[in-house]
Amino acid sequence: MKGIILAGGHGTRLYPLTRITSKQLLPIYDRPMIFYPLQVLLMAGIKEILIIVAPERAGDFLNLLGSGKNFGAKFTYEIQDKPEGIAQAFIIGADFIGDDSVALILGDNIFEDDLSETIRNFKKGGKIFIREVSDPERFGVVKLDKLGKPQRIIEKPKKFISSYAITGLYVFDNRVVKIAENLKPSKRGELEITDIQARYLKMGELTVHTIRGEWIDTGTFDSLLKASNWARRQAKSKASGRPI
Ligand code: DAU
Repeated sequence: MKGIILAGGHGTRLYPLTRITSKQLLPIYDRPMIFYPLQVLLMAGIKEILIIVAPERAGDFLNLLGSGKNFGAKFTYEIQDKPEGIAQAFIIGADFIGDDSVALILGDNIFEDDLSETIRNFKKGGKIFIREVSDPERFGVVKLDKLGKPQRIIEKPKKFISSYAITGLYVFDNRVVKIAENLKPSKRGELEITDIQARYLKMGELTVHTIRGEWIDTGTFDSLLKASNWARRQAKSKASGRPI
């Protein structure tokens, strides 16, 4: 399985912090933000990782992460000229993905749970990682039936349909590349990741995994602070240190 970290965009919601740097390079306590999603992929044993960045920040990512050798992995870089949607990652990454399946993680998502077994055990279809939240209108959400099977997926619902947010980690088989290539931009002009999930749902091949522990989408000043406080507690409680 290949891995992709999507770390583009302008981070305008975090101005002025992101005027001269990328959101995914901002500090979360003692690490740059991107280390946290990177750790999720590395712990799952994924060794080939594509990092998709905005053109004006490419050099900073390269300086920080390099070839991947220091992390026991191989990093490849691609530019996303404009933030035209999360699903575009599969189009930009088509050659890199080749014939493999792929785990995509957003460069601003922080997970406490160890998801490596679930990622390693993936075989076919699509898998999303969900968590109950108090503010589902901020996220893509999934409605589940009584058996916990996914029924409906909506990006940032105006009307409440479910309190299960879809986190920024997605695992798909190789068909995702073709599906992404055939997507049409949404009303807001983006290739939506939720449209890909909806497609796998329609094919009856979407599974959900409910995550445990903290999950933070560091898209706001408050969640940035929350993430730093969480990371500080983690760093102090882990006597043996963290993997990266
Ligand atoms: O965090 C989970 C949520 O992430 C999901 O529940 C939503 O379904 C998904 O759409 C996304 O929502 P956000 O509102 O957080 O999306 P945002 O546009 O902020 O993008 C998330 C990250 O991905 C952000 O750090 C920038 C990066 N990005 C985004 C887009 C649209 C890119 O690098 N390129 C892009 O084209």
